[in-house]
Amino acid sequence: MKRVSKAIFPVAGLGTRFLPATKSIPKEIMTLVDRPLIQYAIDEARAAGIKEFIFVTARGKSALEDYFDVAPELENTLRKKGKNELLKTLKSTNMDSGEIAYMRQNKALGLGHAVWCARRLLGNEPFAVILPDDVIAAEKPCLQQMVEAHAEIGGNMVAAMEVPPEMASSYGMLDIKEDMGSVVSVKGMVEKPTVADAPSNLAVIGRYILTPDVMRNLNKAKSGAGGEIQLTDAIAAEIENSDNVYGYRFRGQRYDCGSKAGFLQATVAFGLAREELSGEFSQFLEGMMATRKAAQ
Ligand code: UTP
Repeated sequence: MKRVSKAIFPVAGLGTRFLPATKSIPKEIMTLVDRPLIQYAIDEARAAGIKEFIFVTARGKSALEDYFDVAPELENTLRKKGKNELLKTLKSTNMDSGEIAYMRQNKALGLGHAVWCARRLLGNEPFAVILPDDVIAAEKPCLQQMVEAHAEIGGNMVAAMEVPPEMASSYGMLDIKEDMGSVVSVKGMVEKPTVADAPSNLAVIGRYILTPDVMRNLNKAKSGAGGEIQLTDAIAAEIENSDNVYGYRFRGQRYDCGSKAGFLQATVAFGLAREELSGEFSQFLEGMMATRKAAQ
């Protein structure tokens, strides 16, 4: 089986839930503590062995392209001032020439369409898709867990997470054929079902390893739920064609940084996880909670 060496990062969405901030700042550049969301995604991809990074971008996202470029003036200043630790941090964000590619999605027609925009940059091999607004804190990075499982079973794999029934309508939900523990084989996928129609409590999260067949399905795709071209539909078609779609129950904590509540939760969790901040920050949070309680 070919190893997964390319990842697509769809970052062309409008990010309307964060307006007005996203009027001029791409959502993926928003920071958890001091690192943009996209940096967490890139680090996770590297840990999983990804060598080629394909961004599907859009108008207004140039800050993203600049973020991965070298910053000679900034580097020189830090060097002159002897700020070597900061210089190291800065240089770790640079991407080598040719390692990163940008494709343009000229209309936000949905996640499936965004992935399809990268079709010419993929060969006949499996590829990963990472949604940077799903941030996953894990001892072993989520995509690495999936790449290892994929090396054993192949096919199409989506990250899966248990959600409470009332949350099903916010996710693509899996209909399970066989539960094998961390891996489940899938007999159906339903995009944003009502509580009554949800086939299980396993939701699809923004990490995928897909076969070129899914890209071929996207070539033929028509608009699905909400008038958008859904990636879920193109993956679900493979259940019928090849019966090789799996869900992977990853180990880790996922934060929905595409929503305000999820972003704030991640900020608190990542802030508390930082050694240099945790003391002062947890004291502050405890004080806040005590004041709130006293006022109730
Ligand atoms: P979301 O559903 O979170 O949409 O997209 P969004 O536009 O980013 O945010 P809201 O809902 O308006 O607040 C999930 C992922 O798919 C990408 C987004 O950039 C995000 O990473 N996406 C979505 C595209 O690249 N193109 C699209 O047409 C839609």
